[in-house]
Amino acid sequence: MAGQFEGKVVFISGAARGQGRSHAVRFAEEGADVIALDLCEQIDSVAYPMPSREDLDETVNLVEKTGRRIVAEQADVRDFERVREVVANGVAELGRLDFVLANAGIFPAAGTQRLDITAFVDAVDVNLKGVYFTIEAALPAVLNQGEGGAIVITSSAAGFKSVSTTFDTMSHGAAGYTASKHAVIGVMRHYATSLAEKNIRVNSVHPGGVATPMIINEAMGRLVGDQPEFGDAQQPKLSMPPMDPAEVTDAIVYFCGHSGRHLTGVALPLDGGLTLK
Ligand SMILES: NC(=O)c1ccc[n+]([C@@H]2O[C@H](COP(=O)([O-])OP(=O)(O)OC[C@H]3O[C@@H](n4cnc5c(N)ncnc54)[C@H](O)[C@@H]3O)[C@@H](O)[C@H]2O)c1
Repeated sequence: MAGQFEGKVVFISGAARGQGRSHAVRFAEEGADVIALDLCEQIDSVAYPMPSREDLDETVNLVEKTGRRIVAEQADVRDFERVREVVANGVAELGRLDFVLANAGIFPAAGTQRLDITAFVDAVDVNLKGVYFTIEAALPAVLNQGEGGAIVITSSAAGFKSVSTTFDTMSHGAAGYTASKHAVIGVMRHYATSLAEKNIRVNSVHPGGVATPMIINEAMGRLVGDQPEFGDAQQPKLSMPPMDPAEVTDAIVYFCGHSGRHLTGVALPLDGGLTLK
């Protein structure tokens, strides 16, 4: 049976592992070809290991196993010209662009680096500027087709609520993460409002804890060991383990598919009630 995204192309930032890889494989299973990018390098303010080129190659491998095509390049979402290049290369090869998933992000809120002002700057650069650059770089190709499309930004529960909730757990990294994840709701509303007349729908997802190397790592373990109140503040109200990346993918597929055809401007919490007031 044909998948719901047969004949479509999706562009995904941060696709080397974690949620981005899950989105790439699922969209391919649904019939889409994939344009993927990832930094595949360490950023000094990030205390957990970031992925390598081998991780992005594994995403390529998994997508190709589904029978779909993928163009995957190492690139930094903070470099607008480079992101444009990746989109151009992907569209030249795959012929079109329908969906944009602005997923790449960093969480520089652990390790001693979190107390350096650079952690704030890096969080905002990657998680806000990078999201804007990803969408801006991709938009001309989507508009060119004149057939509409869908954009999904991956924000966080930290788009609604501060990740640090006490004086002792304040850090520049936590501030940058919270600020950037709030700010992309503004980016989402900017595009949702302005692109509606072009039938391009724009929404954001706001996960709580997702089981990826961003939160399952030694530095985060040390932080919540030293500051249990930091860990407590990230607990959902529902008694649940961290989500699987595939559960975030489910929501994104819902937004991009026929199921989401009336949805634009929605900031969807996927957080087990963490941000419930
Ligand atoms: N894991 C969680 O608990 C959680 C919760 C809420 C939101 N999020 C958000 O989900 C998104 C995906 O994160 P994840 O959980 O899959 O973590 P992850 O670290 O496994 O994946 C993030 C990916 O983004 C890439 N990336 C980072 N900076 C980049 C840059 N400058 N240019 C290009 N690529 C870059 C990384 O290399 C990595 O592959 C992020 O935006 C994150 O903030 C994660």
